[in-house]
Amino acid sequence: MGYVMNKMDIVKLILGEKRFLPPALPSAKYFSPSNIALCKYWGKRNLELNLPVTSSLSVSLGNKGAEVELTVHSKNQDTIFLNDQKVDVTSNFAKRLIDFLNLFRHYQDKKNYFLIRIHSTIPIAAGLASSACGFASVIQALNVLFDWKLSTDQLSLLARLGSGSACRSIESGFVEWNRGSREDGLDSFGVKMQETWPELCVGLLVMSDKEKKMASRKAMQQTVETSPFYFAWPSLVEKDLIQLKKSIREKDFSLLGKTAESNALAMHATMMTAWPPIYYTLPETISAMNRIWKMRDDGLAIYFTQDAGPNLKCLFLEKEISSVVDFFPEVDIVKPFNEGILCISAS
Ligand code: PMV
Repeated sequence: MGYVMNKMDIVKLILGEKRFLPPALPSAKYFSPSNIALCKYWGKRNLELNLPVTSSLSVSLGNKGAEVELTVHSKNQDTIFLNDQKVDVTSNFAKRLIDFLNLFRHYQDKKNYFLIRIHSTIPIAAGLASSACGFASVIQALNVLFDWKLSTDQLSLLARLGSGSACRSIESGFVEWNRGSREDGLDSFGVKMQETWPELCVGLLVMSDKEKKMASRKAMQQTVETSPFYFAWPSLVEKDLIQLKKSIREKDFSLLGKTAESNALAMHATMMTAWPPIYYTLPETISAMNRIWKMRDDGLAIYFTQDAGPNLKCLFLEKEISSVVDFFPEVDIVKPFNEGILCISAS
């Protein structure tokens, strides 16, 4: 087998000499929205570079996301605050972040260490795509700090090295992550779709904000290696992507909802049949699913999707807001395409 590229090779390819620029500012801050996949990314063809087996498609979550502020400081290690609480630098959370930043420090003469302040408006690691918006904000803040002037494609590509789904958090709205076919992944990044859907709502139903039992990275790999149903996943995704794009183009909400919900359930079916089995679903998740199905039987157009955690994200249109709030008073409603009121907290 020939030489397999690592993350640093990709950073060198993209940044070139810019890698050695000194900071242009003392500090930089950037907010990136979280994104929820309507057609999921589940399985990597390259573990090191986070290259996916399939393409995927997401919608961003308005003002739900993470703001990251990077300040260059004189210490010889990073200091991290998450929602004003100091983070232990030996924790998994800190290690992932520091490993990512290690890709962008100067090597020859002087390394930059940072004071990192993260403000997250979503629970961390509960399947609400907190790592996606975190890594997207970090790369955006670095781009401002060092004045790299990278394109959105390049930013997306670099964010992908932190966490796959982060490449869909560089842009807002509907974003398609094209899997690409190159071995170095230079054609694998998120691309914003031009279509908008102002009436579209995403309702967050949080059953648990505890850290998830198994990181999606490990769960994906276990699924790819052991689930007897994984072979069916890539062709299912191909079909679902066609249906989703059609639904977005034609504003066919029931097609969008049905495709997103069945895609999420199919992803969970591959995990449940992995060995050892992977279950993120809690009894509360099932009971919320049953309520959603009942609401649908009663004529309300509401669907859900679920990621690597127990929480559900409901999909519905603006005209259903009051009915949804009646059924789920605790729901947190986001309107991804309504720039004025990005987020309505119903509780
Ligand atoms: O980017 P990761 O490694 O956090 O994986 C994301 C996996 C899912 O959220 C389950 C699916 C997706 O496409 O976001």
